[in-house]
Amino acid sequence: MSAPLVWINGEAGGSLSPLDRGLHFGDGLFETIACLGGRPRFLGLHLKRLSLGCARLGLPAPGLERLSAAIKNAAAPLERAIVKLLVTRGPALQRGYAWGEEQGTWLVIRYPWPQEDPALARSGVRVRTAATRLGENPALAGLKHCNRLEQILARNEDRSNEADEALMLSHSGNLVSGTMTNVFLVSGPPQAPRLSTPEVAQCGVAGIMRRVVLREAVREGIPASESVLHPVDLDGASEVFLTNARIGIWPVRSIDGRALAVGPVTRRLQERLEPLLGAAGADG
Ligand SMILES: Cc1ncc(COP(=O)(O)O)c(C=O)c1O
Repeated sequence: MSAPLVWINGEAGGSLSPLDRGLHFGDGLFETIACLGGRPRFLGLHLKRLSLGCARLGLPAPGLERLSAAIKNAAAPLERAIVKLLVTRGPALQRGYAWGEEQGTWLVIRYPWPQEDPALARSGVRVRTAATRLGENPALAGLKHCNRLEQILARNEDRSNEADEALMLSHSGNLVSGTMTNVFLVSGPPQAPRLSTPEVAQCGVAGIMRRVVLREAVREGIPASESVLHPVDLDGASEVFLTNARIGIWPVRSIDGRALAVGPVTRRLQERLEPLLGAAGADG
């Protein structure tokens, strides 16, 4: 597998200051962008989330045109790649939390597309419930910020790999997401199914694929909502699936050992997304 390639502030290789606030405090944001046919997928949505995040955190936002050109440039030579964009507040001008007039840092890192069993998207994934819970903090909720310790703990609770992903609850006991995915539940009668996903007002990431699925479900005639959900709602769901910008949709085939059918609504949405996720897919 080829090594990741890195551009720092637009320069191939480049160098990163050991005083960077991204390193010291996780003072930054990131985007993980799937690239197919040499093009970054949903680049418009990724850059929009990034700029909204920069505004919320008072981060110096790099010029979007420069970022966009750098990401496209990184994606262009390869048929499939993952491009990670990281934006931090940059090298600290003083010690401590107070920020000054720092010049932000931005990194573009191109990774090979991971090797993955294609059966996961067809037959579904096994999911467990993580013991690690998510803290609630509306000031950070929805952001893809560089503090991921909760996800790291949850992911590494069980290294047996018997589960493909872990579902996470908030400290109040609400269902929030997977460690690296958003979660959707299908409920209602088969002739009038409804889709719901946990709101991300207290914690969780406002995923790009979550946004696309909410939009496409409505276009498909399936009512879709963001709401407060609990683990018990998983018991009442006829289908459950996970999303992220790389995987698209992963049906869930078991939760904590309880089998679930990979059902027709998940399949319909996977089919609906297929043209958007392929190399010729739309941006946005
Ligand atoms: C904690 C968490 N939630 C949700 C997502 C899904 O977000 P996206 O659809 O933007 O990939 C991710 C992706 O890595 C994540 O890490």
